[in-house]
Amino acid sequence: MTSDSPSRPTTLIYGGTAAYWLDLTEFGAVGDSLTPETPFGPAAPITWLSGRDGLTVGFSSRHGVGELQRSAGFVNHRANLWAAQQFGFRAILSWNGVGAINPALAVGDLVVPADLLDWTSSRRAHSFDRWHQPTAGPPFDPALRETILHALTVARPTEAGADLTHHAAPVTYVCTEGPRLETQAEIALFARAGADVVGMTLAPEVWLARELGLRYASLCFVTNYATGMARGREPTREFGPRVARTCLPILLAAAGRLARASR
Ligand code: HPA
Repeated sequence: MTSDSPSRPTTLIYGGTAAYWLDLTEFGAVGDSLTPETPFGPAAPITWLSGRDGLTVGFSSRHGVGELQRSAGFVNHRANLWAAQQFGFRAILSWNGVGAINPALAVGDLVVPADLLDWTSSRRAHSFDRWHQPTAGPPFDPALRETILHALTVARPTEAGADLTHHAAPVTYVCTEGPRLETQAEIALFARAGADVVGMTLAPEVWLARELGLRYASLCFVTNYATGMARGREPTREFGPRVARTCLPILLAAAGRLARASR
């Protein structure tokens, strides 16, 4: 961090779907931006953002800046999480687009996953190269999850308005390898296994965060119905700027609550 950056922020927000189109100045004062070098290559740029309540957070768009530069299967999670730890962040709040498996979920809904089914097959899920004590415990930090859920009840998303529906029930996210979409048979299998939503992002991000001692929780925006799950509904898809403009204010509100709780 450079000398003219505000005091060291402890929360890093990872932007997912549509984050690359965001004009951060709509959400606060934009500070320095840097692209950390790590033993795993360059991490996604981190920008300092000071919200209207004066709180400074780090903000990083996983999939690129200005345009979609890398899809979920090509995100360098090891570099990103390593950089997050090196910069002294202690908590990560992220947003991701997901496909709805649970028929109770509709496009545009928001959920905060409590559990994870890791269906990835070739992603490096640790940051070390020798034997290491296995990590255990829930993938998502329960208190951080509650903080996002609380923020959902108080934040005023820029564009989402009154039609914003969030589900407080603990949902399970299944992470697939990509870049291809799932087959109908795979989604049917995940549904039977208890998955509510599907995405390609959270593994190994969440495992690396836990290994590196960073608290982690995620806000998921339902962008589409998973393969074969529209069930007669309009097969709407929502991958546009509304996703990011909905999610960032909620996560900024959650970061504010976290900061107040740690004072
Ligand atoms: N499948 C996998 N990843 C996704 C989807 C999906 O349907 N929607 C958003 N990310």
